[in-house]
Amino acid sequence: MSNDSSVDRIADRLRVLAAAAPPGSRLPSTRALVQDFAASPVTVQMALARLVAENLVETRPGAGSFVAHGWSGEPPDLSWQTRALGPLRTRANPVGTSLATVSPDAIALHSGYPAENLLPGRLVRASLARAARGPTALGRPPAGGLPELRAWFAGELAHATPRGTLPPTAADVVVTPGGQSALCSVFRALAAPGEPIVMESPTYWGAIAAAEQAGLMIVPVPRGTTAPSPDDVARALASSGARLFYAQPHFANPTGTTWTLDEGSALLKVVTAHDAFLVEDDWGHDFAFAHPVSPLAARDTDGHVVYIRSLTKSLAPALRVAAVVARGPARTRIHTDRTIDDLYVSGLLQTAALDVLTQPAWRTHVRSTARRLAERRDALATLLRRHAPGVDITLLPAGGLHLWVRLPDGTDPVSLTARCAARGLHIAPGHEWFPTEPPAPHLRLSYAVADPARFRDAVDILARELAREGG
Ligand SMILES: Cc1ncc(COP(=O)(O)O)c(C=O)c1O
Repeated sequence: MSNDSSVDRIADRLRVLAAAAPPGSRLPSTRALVQDFAASPVTVQMALARLVAENLVETRPGAGSFVAHGWSGEPPDLSWQTRALGPLRTRANPVGTSLATVSPDAIALHSGYPAENLLPGRLVRASLARAARGPTALGRPPAGGLPELRAWFAGELAHATPRGTLPPTAADVVVTPGGQSALCSVFRALAAPGEPIVMESPTYWGAIAAAEQAGLMIVPVPRGTTAPSPDDVARALASSGARLFYAQPHFANPTGTTWTLDEGSALLKVVTAHDAFLVEDDWGHDFAFAHPVSPLAARDTDGHVVYIRSLTKSLAPALRVAAVVARGPARTRIHTDRTIDDLYVSGLLQTAALDVLTQPAWRTHVRSTARRLAERRDALATLLRRHAPGVDITLLPAGGLHLWVRLPDGTDPVSLTARCAARGLHIAPGHEWFPTEPPAPHLRLSYAVADPARFRDAVDILARELAREGG
């Protein structure tokens, strides 16, 4: 058992030893400290961690603990960097709250990646083990991706391609390390710094950040109840001269909205009429609750849709594999950008991903996960409706991982988020998903991470803190 006084005693002893010995000196081993203090290894580790945090001790896995090459003088003056670097390309803190790593005891409604028990863990581990024994474990794969994996991505679209339309092939696919890098490449490759890009508002914070990092000027169009109005998109493309329209037609992050087939066709027509590209981010493809996703890219006949499909949320966040499907010079430019950025994606990860995707158990997993996610969605929505007055669920999404909720006017989602975090509940403030001023206060609440048994506690904390905010 660990207790605070044992941690204090061990830390005090280590402090004395570290002060007396020159930097680099070896400190007593964990085993020796366990014996000397009749303490558990966990208690010793906690004491060591404290000294590491104080910069007095360095631990080297497998080698032991050593007196740190500590610094006792003034902290370095880095102010020259402020002068040298000049203005930021993105807003000061572009990385969303949803990426925060939180304590395992906390209730996580903030994250955009599903809980481990919703992933095909056994399949992924077995595929990684098989891949580790094969040739791609050591070698360099082709820059655009393994041909078999590219064929798999193309095949996914070809299934949905109507008769009479030329389906994409493996040659149209570029494998990327995740959907985020796909977004960065597409934006960089198809637009020059200073040029405009049209986006639904609100939209994925990572797409906003990628566009800003590429030096693009975001032209927002309101998302609407299901899709943006074709007139709004036409006006935005015409007035700005943008040739990119970034969109999430299915289970949009954050709103959960899905375009109807007709809306998709109308928007594709607008984009085509303006000689523009529709960048279709199909991030939630594997999280469809009722009807399978039918990507717009499958209906694209002449290269106006640049399609992004990521596997990181449905296979495993550790398998960072995604793909861009595009035709013509656009595909060539994206491929070039990708290659310049990181040459190729680990062949080991690509092989493991393909191995999972081609197991019959993969399809079964996708179906059962969708069922479990829909149950989680309903459980959280029911509790919010019953116990969190003032939290307005804007839509029950037909897929994906989140609820988008509106808060009473005047609520400050940032302070609400901070107060909930202090009570062990992590949520994501809605302003991070708006490329410009948010028109109303919102939160994004994920139902895919926390144990549903803790949803009630989460809703109670949120309701209590919201009531305090109002009063
Ligand atoms: C809409 C959307 N697109 C792309 C991504 C990027 O995901 P990844 O890089 O893990 O594939 C995310 C992640 O949250 C997302 O929500």
